[in-house]
Amino acid sequence: MIEIHRVFCNLACGLHPPSLDIAVALKKTGRLMAEPKTNELMEKIVSLCKRRGFVFQSSEIYGGINGFWDYGPLGAELKRNVKELWWNTMTRQRDDVVGLEATIIMHPQIWKASGHVDTFADMMRECPLTKKRVRADQVEPQSGIAYNYSGAEDTSVEPDTKTAVLLEEKLRREESNIPIPPISTGCADSFSFLLPAGKPPELARKAAVEFYVQRGVKKPKLLDEFTERLEDSSDYHPESRVKLSPPRPFNLMFKTYVGPVESEEGIAYLRPETAQAIFAQFKNVIETSRQKVPFGIAQVGKAFRNEVTPRNFTFRSREFEQMELEFFIKPDEAVEAICGNVASAALISNENIQHRTSGSQPSTLNPQPKWGWEAWHKYWVEERIRFYEGIGLPRNTLVEYWQKPEELAHYARATVDILFKFPFSKRDEKGELMGEELEGIAARSDFDLSQHQRFSGKPMTVFDDELKAAWSKLDASKHRALQKSYFEARLKYLTKTGEPVEKAEKQAREDADNLAKGIYVPHVIEPSAGVDRLILALICHAYCEDQAPDEKGKMESRVVMRFHPRIAPIKVAVFPLLKNKPELVQKAKEVRDRLRPHMTVFYDEAGAIGRRYRRQDEAGTPFGVTIDFDTLGEKGPELKDTVTLRDRDTMQQTRVKIDDLLPRLLEKIR
Ligand code: GAP
Repeated sequence: MIEIHRVFCNLACGLHPPSLDIAVALKKTGRLMAEPKTNELMEKIVSLCKRRGFVFQSSEIYGGINGFWDYGPLGAELKRNVKELWWNTMTRQRDDVVGLEATIIMHPQIWKASGHVDTFADMMRECPLTKKRVRADQVEPQSGIAYNYSGAEDTSVEPDTKTAVLLEEKLRREESNIPIPPISTGCADSFSFLLPAGKPPELARKAAVEFYVQRGVKKPKLLDEFTERLEDSSDYHPESRVKLSPPRPFNLMFKTYVGPVESEEGIAYLRPETAQAIFAQFKNVIETSRQKVPFGIAQVGKAFRNEVTPRNFTFRSREFEQMELEFFIKPDEAVEAICGNVASAALISNENIQHRTSGSQPSTLNPQPKWGWEAWHKYWVEERIRFYEGIGLPRNTLVEYWQKPEELAHYARATVDILFKFPFSKRDEKGELMGEELEGIAARSDFDLSQHQRFSGKPMTVFDDELKAAWSKLDASKHRALQKSYFEARLKYLTKTGEPVEKAEKQAREDADNLAKGIYVPHVIEPSAGVDRLILALICHAYCEDQAPDEKGKMESRVVMRFHPRIAPIKVAVFPLLKNKPELVQKAKEVRDRLRPHMTVFYDEAGAIGRRYRRQDEAGTPFGVTIDFDTLGEKGPELKDTVTLRDRDTMQQTRVKIDDLLPRLLEKIR
């Protein structure tokens, strides 16, 4: 889940910074010290993505732009399928979730209320030479000999000028107490370069000279060089080897201006998450959709974060898509008042879940009125894992990571991250891939709606007639117990926001009184998934190299993308055996046209049939239909109007009647 630090600072340019001369020089001589570690499998996957049109670098013809990616023809289909399945599963197949499509730019107060303006920052460090930034917690340790300098004198300054400058500064200091730098005809900034063992010191000195030239010293004479051996230091930039600046916060929101004037009042942000629009529109949605708590609002859309170090292909991008659900629930005190008690989350046992059908089928685990936040949270964790299983990511590729209490945001009661074991994930001590976050499922209490209530001055409460009716039947001791618990929770929230104690207590008392009238701010469970990370996970999981026979039956290696048919970009490819036989071509086109209204079909008549199969294997097309002379009835009437249906994974070919093709394929892709 999002990391929160309490500060704000400006944004950095996202374009590739110009390469550092020294790094280029080192690369040219083959002496670059910190070559990035490569992952062979990831390289193959990235290369396939470009070759087959899944993912392209954004603005590639201009050298690309770091952290931005485009989806090619196959990638666009794959992404669309995944988003559509999520949408169908989360909204259309449920009675209790409705959709929303909000704008990317919203009122800036939304980001004040959510905490993003003040706290959505990563701690980062900067290379003072290249200006490249790295996340403070992600600096790879390096060893070598550190060459340190306390500053540089400018030898281009004539001795007479130097004396005059020093004199003038002495006078200034005496007159005005202005602190002046110790070297007035040079630069007093310190500089340090970590030289790998065995490399010539000139490299360090060259970098130092470049650093001081950048600071206006025309002809630097390096001062006070001293060296020290460092082991596993995390203070140096992994590429430039220059000592990093101290960590400072870096707000991740992209800033822009709304309207013709670039003024403070016009500042707006590209949304860093889709969730806040859901909270901001909560009242409108509940009033127009005839939903009652518990219910959810789902949204799919773009989000933008000026990540310090975009990396691992599309995994950490600066523009990406999210699929988020805010599922609003009653506070536990209301559940207890209505049902007498709150059901334990243990009700949602694995046993229960394993017997359910998987995939995009409706769940057979029915939510119960007795569920409090814990049961709802567990329910959504299971629902989301079931979704991943249903699109081809087996449970053993996923990790369910329950955040430790010290990792939780102050308002969160529990957060589960669903991780996928990417090829680039770190390994634990047993050598097992540990996984990277695909989705976070957080029980966020009533924090979000309460914040918007506070900042907008508009009530975010609901009236719950069931609660009001139930309350009147409870005895006084139950009233007291429930109100006490509710009062304490509200007081905790209000004091965290910085309200003075007296005011917070008054407000919390009012809130507890309102509970007795059936009025409360709903709590929320938030399953928040990244589309692009999921696409990358699906691509990584689908990638496979195996052996297949060529035209002459000789085995050759093939790359096959084993996408689940539900998400495969193309569902079926249709091939006439030969393109110069008009009867075959005509029949194949007839088959294509019969299937096309129901699924994505690719028609291919070019090249040997084996090569056509291979192309579709790489695209991940699960089925291939070949129209041959048997189809035309040339070998006998019993095979007339039948085709061969080839399975991508088993490579088995079965003879199927054209009339049976559609139902057979539909059964497999749904
Ligand atoms: N509303 C909660 C929220 O935004 P998050 O953990 O910051 O929580 C949710 O983001 C999901 O969005 C992540 O699990 C991840 O899949 C995706 N995501 C976040 N930052 C991303 C980035 N820079 N690039 C790609 N996906 C990202």
